[in-house]
Amino acid sequence: MKILILNGPNLNLLGTREPEIYGSQTFDEYFSELQFKFQEMELGYFQSNSEGALIDKLHMAQKEGFDAVVCNAGAFTHTSIAIGDAVAGISVPVIEVHISNVMNREEFRHVSYISKHCKGVISGFGLKSYELAINSML
Ligand code: DQA
Repeated sequence: MKILILNGPNLNLLGTREPEIYGSQTFDEYFSELQFKFQEMELGYFQSNSEGALIDKLHMAQKEGFDAVVCNAGAFTHTSIAIGDAVAGISVPVIEVHISNVMNREEFRHVSYISKHCKGVISGFGLKSYELAINSML
C-alpha cells in the first residue's frame, strides 16, 4: 500500500511553530518514525505553502500510484473551496488530519471545506493523528 502524506501551509515550521499547540518535533523526524513503524507501506511526503501546489499534488495522487492520501491542509482547511473540490474530484480516498483539536479552538477553525469529501477526519491527537489515519487503512 502506498500512502501520500500531504501537509499544507506552515506545517514546514513544525518543531518551532507554537510548540504548546503543535509540539516540538519536526515533521522530518516524525516522518522517519512513521517509515519505521509502517515498513510494510510505502509512504510519500509532500508539503507546500501554496494552495495550487497542494491541488496539483492531489490531482497527481492516482497517477503516482497512491492508494490513499492523509491530508493536513492547515489553515486552507477552513478557507479553500478549491482544495475541497480537488478532494471531491479524485478517486483516491483522502483522510483529513489535524494535529490540534480544531473543535476546541477558535470558531473559524470549526469550518472545514474538505471534511465532507473525505473518508474520515482525525483531529487532536498531536502528530499521532497521522499514525491513526494510516492505521485506519490497515
Ligand atoms: C492544523 C489546524 C489548523 O487550524 C491550522 O491552521 C494549522 C494546523 C492542525 O494540524 O492542527 O495550520 O491543521
